[in-house]
Amino acid sequence: MDHFTTHLLHISAALFLLISFNSPLSVSSIGINYGQIANNLPSPDKVVPLMKCIGADKVKLYDADPKVLKAFANTDIEFVVGIGNEYLSKLQDPDAAQSWVKTNVQRYLPATKITSIAVGNEVLTFNDTSLSDCLLPAMQSIHTALVNLKLDSQVTVTTAHSLAVLQTSYPPSAGAFRDDLKDSITPILDFLSKTCSPFLINAYPFFAYKGNSKEVSLDFVLFQPNAGIVDSGNNLHYDNMLFAQIDAVYAALDQLGYKDLPVQISETGWPSKGDDDEPGASPENAKKYNGNLFKVVNQTKGTPAKPDNDLNIFVFALFNENLKPGPTSERNYGLFKPDGSPAYNLGFSGISAGGNSGRNTSGALPPPYTLLPDNPNNGYMSISSAGRFEWENSMRIRIIVMLMLIVVV
Ligand SMILES: *[C@@H]1O[C@H](CO)[C@@H](O)[C@H](O)[C@H]1NC(C)=O
Ligand SMILES: *[C@@H]1O[C@H](CO)[C@@H](O)[C@H](O)[C@H]1NC(C)=O
Ligand SMILES: *[C@@H]1O[C@H](CO)[C@@H](O)[C@H](O)[C@H]1NC(C)=O
Repeated sequence: MDHFTTHLLHISAALFLLISFNSPLSVSSIGINYGQIANNLPSPDKVVPLMKCIGADKVKLYDADPKVLKAFANTDIEFVVGIGNEYLSKLQDPDAAQSWVKTNVQRYLPATKITSIAVGNEVLTFNDTSLSDCLLPAMQSIHTALVNLKLDSQVTVTTAHSLAVLQTSYPPSAGAFRDDLKDSITPILDFLSKTCSPFLINAYPFFAYKGNSKEVSLDFVLFQPNAGIVDSGNNLHYDNMLFAQIDAVYAALDQLGYKDLPVQISETGWPSKGDDDEPGASPENAKKYNGNLFKVVNQTKGTPAKPDNDLNIFVFALFNENLKPGPTSERNYGLFKPDGSPAYNLGFSGISAGGNSGRNTSGALPPPYTLLPDNPNNGYMSISSAGRFEWENSMRIRIIVMLMLIVVV
């Protein structure tokens, strides 16, 4: 090897080490709800790059769609699969539960990283005791099936609640469950605690604003700069409503003796469109809410009352879902339109899904993490900067490897 080559090799090696050790990021994690109440969504294999472009490392489903679970095999993205309320009655039966777990969970492990099963959605706030009475037995049967199949150490069992399980949510330190639900919720908390499973809550500051737009500060609900509020119970300062809601849940858990249960936000989001009587539903506000939410999650610190707890948040939702019933807002929570293009500019590039739109039939996908132009002065952050780092680093590493190859040749 001549002197020149040796020299170049040294430089390359030094550069390579520099790059490797300089990799800056603890990329924080955000979850996405992948709802599919629509007849115009792209196929799940097209959704894989979309998830990567958002930087999502957790996905929550409302079922256990085999097409989705297959498409996401070997992606490192974690899954919460769901069981619809209509199956709870049947799944109290241990044999039915065991066969459900085999078919919908065991079959996909370990290639698809299913980490949790959400049994039912917002069951307790339907006020339907025949449904509520099935919830815990179904959760127990599913858990027993996991134990039998030796999967209980990797898959937790939980259920997602509406924030309406709280009677009091303000001030946060006074958070308390509805009196009439305490008897049904306490054994569920006991189950979660014994099985080391998280407490899931769906929390929408949008509903608080929609219900009382004259009194509720829009900046406070959208994580925009504002004076905030001080909790008279403990003097903690809150500058956004979501954190106040989360801490109200912690206070309610504490009151029943379960202060150490981890809380996850299984749904939160903001619609980009609504009916005339849905103030606040607009692309501008959706961009502020979700953009600021991504930023807050990336700060990797917790809420005022639980600063050391990770924020575990699943945004609702990936797509606008055209077949959802209810007010217009219900069909417009998506970060993306069904064709894979952004519903508004959050800094994500989207995908050319083809789909039914016919807008771009090239089928070519853009590289991950390409950004749409974002005005740095508009007060929102650019979402994908964490992802962009990965992209830039992997480019840099590739260049170094190429350099080294050239040198060796
Ligand atoms: C359920 O009951 C609570 C308390 O009685 C009530 O406030 C709430 O509106 C009811 N919800 C529904 C969906 O009926
Ligand atoms: C279609 O997608 C390709 C690849 O991403 C892109 O180069 C092209 O500009 C797009 N065309 C339209 C009409 O959007
Ligand atoms: C996320 O945090 C990292 C490290 O603190 C920072 O470099 C990056 O800019 C942040 N990204 C966003 C989107 O705020």
